Amino acid sequence: MSTVKYKKSYTFAIKSTIVVTSFSVLLLLLLQYYFFEINFLFTVTFALLFFAFNFFILQYRVERFIYRRIQKIYKNVSILDETVLRNQPITTNMKTLMYEVNKFASEKKIEIESLKVREEYRREFIGNVSHELKTPLFTVQGYISTLLEGNIKDKSIRKKYLQRAESGVERLIDIVSGLDMITKLEAHELQLEFSTFDIVAVFQNIFDMLELKADEHDISLMFDKDHYRPIYVIGDKEKISRVIINLIENSIKYGKKNGTTEVRLEHFTKNKLLVRITDDGIGIDKKHLPRLFERFYRTDSSRTRDVGGSGLGLSIVKHIIEAHNEHIYLESSLGVGSEFSFTLQIEKNPADNL
Ligand SMILES: Nc1ncnc2c1ncn2[C@@H]1O[C@H](COP(=O)(O)OP(=O)(O)OP(=O)(O)O)[C@@H](O)[C@H]1O
Ligand SMILES: [Mg+2]
Repeated sequence: MSTVKYKKSYTFAIKSTIVVTSFSVLLLLLLQYYFFEINFLFTVTFALLFFAFNFFILQYRVERFIYRRIQKIYKNVSILDETVLRNQPITTNMKTLMYEVNKFASEKKIEIESLKVREEYRREFIGNVSHELKTPLFTVQGYISTLLEGNIKDKSIRKKYLQRAESGVERLIDIVSGLDMITKLEAHELQLEFSTFDIVAVFQNIFDMLELKADEHDISLMFDKDHYRPIYVIGDKEKISRVIINLIENSIKYGKKNGTTEVRLEHFTKNKLLVRITDDGIGIDKKHLPRLFERFYRTDSSRTRDVGGSGLGLSIVKHIIEAHNEHIYLESSLGVGSEFSFTLQIEKNPADNL
């Protein structure tokens, strides 16, 4: 603001002084004319002195007057910072006031816009939560009511219904704990437990764990090369495992028959590892990419495929990676496949295993 130059205004005082001086000089001339004789030197001296005196008094009074009024406005309107108002030329104060009011207005406008966006997001979010909870809740309720009616004599069917009710409850727990995790990660409440671990071994374990699921979908899980030596990275082992499980589960769920999910580990920078998980599955349309990591976001094709899932997986992935101060990248083309990749800190190790 100090860069703006303001000019002090004298117009009001000058104009008023000219009017008052002219009138006084005229009166003086008339008085001299009738009672004495006209003395020009005296009249000019009077005019000059009168003009100067008048001008200074007027200018000063006007400045004080306006300054007090503006000060009052600043005091009453708590949004304006009174310290900004210093005893400056009047025009400056006026412009300062206008500048402050304009700044305030534009800041408020931005704030209101972002509140509107947030409100919209909140409404959508609550809608999504209740929608996602409804399906498993009704499933559980349905099976329990049927069992309570007591008409089913066959023990094996009763057991089957109980198991279905149980898997509904499990799904509810999944959603709630997923949401809980996201909320905690967003609020920075979830402390990461950093340690050094071998990422190759983590992948090996997850491959073993998900092998059955992958087989069901005729998908093979593999590294890009036959053998990786241990690669030590720094991070929260459990959470990074969660990330990898979510990504590999997705590659299975949204994979094609006889497809492959391939994992590649390579240097991103000297101290960063890039973990790439590539599939040759259904791929993702470009229009979904900007929103894919949002909570509950699912593409239409995954909805119609009915492969379950609530759309929390990728949101959790992104939050965990960002809590590590790392980055996640996504490349995908519809019908061809997808690649999710993220960075990790490599433990400084003299033996470079990559
Ligand atoms: N590898 C992939 N190939 C194709 N589409 C994918 C892939 N990964 C994710 N998607 C799309 O992104 C959406 C969001 O994925 P996300 O993991 O967040 O949710 P989800 O798998 O549907 O449910 P959840 O992981 O919570 O069980 C999916 O519904 C799917 O449409
Ligand atoms: Mg998922």
